[in-house]
Amino acid sequence: MKVTDIVFPQGFLWGAATAAFQVEGATDVDGRTDSIWDVFCRVPGNVVGGDCGEPAADHYRRFEQDVRMMAELGLRAYRFSIAWPRVRPDGGAVNQAGLDFYRRLIDTLLAHDIQPWPTLYHWDLPQKLEDAGGWAARDTAFRFADYATATAEALGDRVTNWTTLNEPWCAAFLGYAAGVHAPGRTDPAAAVAAVHHLLLGHGLAAQAIRTAAAFTRVGITLNMYPIIPADPASAADQDVARRLDGLQQRIFLDPLLRGEYPADVVADLEPFGFSRHVRAGDLELISGPLDMLGVNYYTEHHVSSRPGETGPSPWVGVGDHSFPRRDFPRTDMGWEVRPEGLTSVLLRLHAQYPRLPLYITENGAAFRDEIDGDGVQDVDRTAYLESHLRAAHDAIEMGVKLRGYFCWSLLDNFEWAEGYAKRFGIVHVDYDTQVRTPKMSAKWFARVARGNALVAVR
Ligand code: FCB
Repeated sequence: MKVTDIVFPQGFLWGAATAAFQVEGATDVDGRTDSIWDVFCRVPGNVVGGDCGEPAADHYRRFEQDVRMMAELGLRAYRFSIAWPRVRPDGGAVNQAGLDFYRRLIDTLLAHDIQPWPTLYHWDLPQKLEDAGGWAARDTAFRFADYATATAEALGDRVTNWTTLNEPWCAAFLGYAAGVHAPGRTDPAAAVAAVHHLLLGHGLAAQAIRTAAAFTRVGITLNMYPIIPADPASAADQDVARRLDGLQQRIFLDPLLRGEYPADVVADLEPFGFSRHVRAGDLELISGPLDMLGVNYYTEHHVSSRPGETGPSPWVGVGDHSFPRRDFPRTDMGWEVRPEGLTSVLLRLHAQYPRLPLYITENGAAFRDEIDGDGVQDVDRTAYLESHLRAAHDAIEMGVKLRGYFCWSLLDNFEWAEGYAKRFGIVHVDYDTQVRTPKMSAKWFARVARGNALVAVR
């Protein structure tokens, strides 16, 4: 199909995404206390370059300028996250100053006709709650619901679209099994407990939001990947793909949308004591109504049963496996560029859950940018976005209920364990001066968003 023929359905929502710890900075103002990421960053070796959440993109102080820029880019929605340690520092009493920041941000968005899409948890658990057991402890789910209640009561008159969690897979497995994300634990039993408690937290928070605010839509965001056996004829490779898909996707989708954990995954995780965390009534809460599902998509996983994994692995209970390299272009993260995987993820969700509205809540790429007198000519990133939007459009043509697309990210930001070395923004941030420069990709994306249709990259 010619690029100019690719028109999106009327009302398709165009936005960009960020997350609190990655952009805000101002980590010690207005009553905010440490999150697990503040503490994790202080440990030498945890984050490339010894970087931390300061000053990040200084979004806490520059949000008005950033919102004006979003409006200039034709964006109609902004997906951001709310920092739990601002709203309930240490997981304790409500902090009005923290809520006030998000009220100001939301009011500024609304004044520019940009829909606020807050996420309640993008990985910044108050450290005090981690000290009390973190997501491995059941009580954290109830503290999360308290935080959701306070936030929805304060902001529910201004926000319609709420997301509870961002990528619980990363929070549980990268944080508690591989130890490469905060809180840096390498305890598989804690990771599988965290899976259930994150989901329980989602269920309780969804209920709390609906109680506190009248007109709401509630969703959750998962990171989805097609998981492809290296040798489709090999039973061993197929089994690794089944286990990985179970741990990565079905362990979240099935309880949320079918009210049960997949039996094969429960069996795989029994050595780690998974099922003893699941109590009567939990699955009813977790499978409460869901108005939309957020999909974060970056790449595919190609998996083999041959050993190859070294170092701490998030893949609890999978056994020998590896991710053989294939000859595809890669981003600066080393991730294969596989737009067709996005179509396949969307088709799979649609086939299994045909009534559920879907949003791409993250998609984008890190590439090395050069800034000069002409700005940033990020052809690679622009081409990445174009190919993935084509893939998304293919899915829509095949009947998928895809309602919107948020690119990751609005701004260059703190890329977790990679620090500031990896740039995902469509807007360049000079971390010394905090000057913002929309890259070629931002200008291209603005034309797409305004026209609700693809335009040629060059
Ligand atoms: C996702 C995270 C997001 C960002 C992108 C690159 O897993 O949700 O914060 O780091 O990856």
